[in-house]
Amino acid sequence: MQLGQEVFGVAFQNPVLLASGTCGYGQELDGLLDLDALGGLVTKAVTPEPRDGNPALRAAEFEAGMLNSIGLANVGLDRFRAEKLPWLAARLRRARVLVNVAGRSVEEYMRVVAALDGETGFLGYELNVSCPNVKEGGVLFSTRADQLEAVVRAARAATKRPLVVKLSPHVPDIGRMAEIAVGAGADGLTLINTFPGLLFDIDSRAPVLGAGIGGVSGAAVLPMGVYAVWQARRRVDVPILGVGGIRSAEDAVQYFLAGASLVQIGTASFANPRTAERVLKGLAAYGRRHGLEDIRELVGAGGMD
Ligand SMILES: Cc1cc2nc3c(=O)[nH]c(=O)nc-3n(C[C@H](O)[C@H](O)[C@H](O)COP(=O)(O)O)c2cc1C
Repeated sequence: MQLGQEVFGVAFQNPVLLASGTCGYGQELDGLLDLDALGGLVTKAVTPEPRDGNPALRAAEFEAGMLNSIGLANVGLDRFRAEKLPWLAARLRRARVLVNVAGRSVEEYMRVVAALDGETGFLGYELNVSCPNVKEGGVLFSTRADQLEAVVRAARAATKRPLVVKLSPHVPDIGRMAEIAVGAGADGLTLINTFPGLLFDIDSRAPVLGAGIGGVSGAAVLPMGVYAVWQARRRVDVPILGVGGIRSAEDAVQYFLAGASLVQIGTASFANPRTAERVLKGLAAYGRRHGLEDIRELVGAGGMD
């Protein structure tokens, strides 16, 4: 089966990427798998200033996935530009790079996008809008239409590169948020970010995570992610990157059937850093089993209307 995808006007050699926050800046996984054989990767979120992140414990496993509250720990814009982007530019020839951008205000998102825009080594941006706007009392950009629109418009004004908006599934109408993001200038959508969650240590009775509440990812969120992609697909006509709970080629196919053009692997890479390679091999085998010639035959092919 032909696995290449043409998205945002460029060729992706295959549709499997690594998800933001689970592959660092690429460098961390170099040697563990052939990064340049993947469709691409999404960097850890970049904010204007370096951030230490939240107190330990930052991640906890449970049977069906993971609960994390990293707190956007990252090296900050200057070091990302000086050290991480040049490494990506030198190391990756074929895999595409999206830079995940986060901020505490519309201006912070704009600052990161504007500062990186003249650099090489990446294709475009993925806006992580699941962040609180401190200037608006901490309301999440992803949960209020006016906030989402403002941040996407501002980023759009700062770049002509592909602009992908990563939406939170924790909203009453994901299709509506998809329309708002696209109306404000998004070229594509990533669905989904994590769900809010909480677990206690049943002996100490304190939350297991240092920050208390965290985001749920991994196998548990697969059907919710597939649902979110399917909902968005019915309302907007831009490429969708499906992410959430993918551990196998069969899980990835779920996202293609719902309408995703590309998929991302997150939590499953922690269990095995080579999961993305396994998913790729599995997709080829799935294609053979089903007599498919092209991965594009699967996109949006899930029956139900
Ligand atoms: C430890 C960890 C860190 C993450 N950091 C980010 C981040 O910096 N930016 C972002 O947009 N998403 C981040 N995510 C969300 C993932 O990219 C992904 O959307 C989510 O985990 C669902 O996919 P999965 O079930 O395959 O992990 C993070 C997830 C985890 C588990």
